[in-house]
Amino acid sequence: MRVLSTRPEDFEMPMEGFGTWITPVDKFFVRSHHYTPDVKLRDWKLSVVGKVATPLVWTLDELKKLPRVELVSVLECAGNGRGLYTPSMAGLQWKYGAVGNARWAGVRLLDVLRKAGRQPGAVEVMFDGADVAIGAQPEFQRSIPLKKALDPNTILAYEMNGEPLDPSHGFPLRLVVPGWAGDSWVKWVMKIEVRDTEFDGFFMKTAYRIPTRPVLPGSAVDPAQMTPVTSLSIKSLLAKLSGAAWSHAAPVVAVEVSTDAGRTWKPATLGSDRAPFAWRLWEFPWTPPADAYYTVLVRARNALGETQPLQPEWNPSGYSHNAVQSVRLHVTANPPSGAPLPAPSNAVRPAALEQSCLTCHSMEPIEQQRLTRAQWEREVEKMQRWGAKVRPELKEVLVDFLANHYGVRPVR
Ligand code: HEC
Repeated sequence: MRVLSTRPEDFEMPMEGFGTWITPVDKFFVRSHHYTPDVKLRDWKLSVVGKVATPLVWTLDELKKLPRVELVSVLECAGNGRGLYTPSMAGLQWKYGAVGNARWAGVRLLDVLRKAGRQPGAVEVMFDGADVAIGAQPEFQRSIPLKKALDPNTILAYEMNGEPLDPSHGFPLRLVVPGWAGDSWVKWVMKIEVRDTEFDGFFMKTAYRIPTRPVLPGSAVDPAQMTPVTSLSIKSLLAKLSGAAWSHAAPVVAVEVSTDAGRTWKPATLGSDRAPFAWRLWEFPWTPPADAYYTVLVRARNALGETQPLQPEWNPSGYSHNAVQSVRLHVTANPPSGAPLPAPSNAVRPAALEQSCLTCHSMEPIEQQRLTRAQWEREVEKMQRWGAKVRPELKEVLVDFLANHYGVRPVR
């Protein structure tokens, strides 16, 4: 796995993961805003509250008495591909592998909500997990519209690939919202609240939002012009001239490959494994005509005729990346020795960094950023709001260090 952060856990699937239809749990990406909670089944209960006729409390055994449903679905982080946007923005720098395809089993959310009944005026359902916010960061709580909650494909899953959920994937219960990005797939679910108003928590009103219209790369966007990330976009990726393609509710019907930078396109062969919300593997047998450099592109099309843009639609938080993947290949009979690139010099860290920044998390989330000085200043201020203690006289030193070493043109 590519480690983006050890604590909280943020791991990216390596490219070979695009070679199997069902992603094994030990290769499945992990995205956690908070530290993984150690949930003990004997203490765990699911409560259903709010605008319901009867508030209910369930144990896992009770829940398992409801009809069991199983489905295969892609789970993709809204921020998958954030690290590919220019200009870059703060956030975990996911490249390709914040996505996987798993077999989920559990109960329909619909069946649980039916047992509790509804009061008039219900519009949304909010989910809260057993995870606890780090410092003063807001709790991870998310809501989905009632209509999506009542979709028979929306499930409360207790199994992933035939096993109880792993703690990193939400043991004992997580929400599965096929066709929608991972921000809605709340883990460690303990509380479900039926609401008659729109939930306005941080992860609905500030994070996980995209502009309603295309914006100029690098621009700030008025929050009123943004809307929550919901549906996934049509997307395909290449791994060894084979790979995976996925979409939202409309299935992938074709994948095309260009080995000449987009001048001509040829159909790839689609894999036989398929399910409505799952990804589709593809293969493109190709013998390079000569030793040379090639630009190989891959694009998918779904049943609605949607395909992928050549350029991603930039947005301030880096969500929904689905641009055509372009891979530069050097075909040669004599590969170079593969000597590693020189590592960045081991900068002397100011003491302020250890004291102010490395108490909640390690260096990993910091090192992967490439931000301007102004962006770093905003990032440090965000961390201060979340509880980082920065001595006022050392703030400039800290921001200078961050901008010099993890800037747009880092000091080497
Ligand atoms: C009080 C705890 C705390 C301290 C101290 C702290 N951070 Fe963070 N930091 C967080 C949390 C929480 C996250 C986000 C975790 C998540 O949602 O994935 C985060 C994430 C980040 C990220 C990833 C990008 C992002 O915005 O999510 C960067 C970069 C970062 N912190 C830099 C810093 C720097 C620089 C400092 C020192 C000034 C610092 N942090 C101190 C809690 C802290």
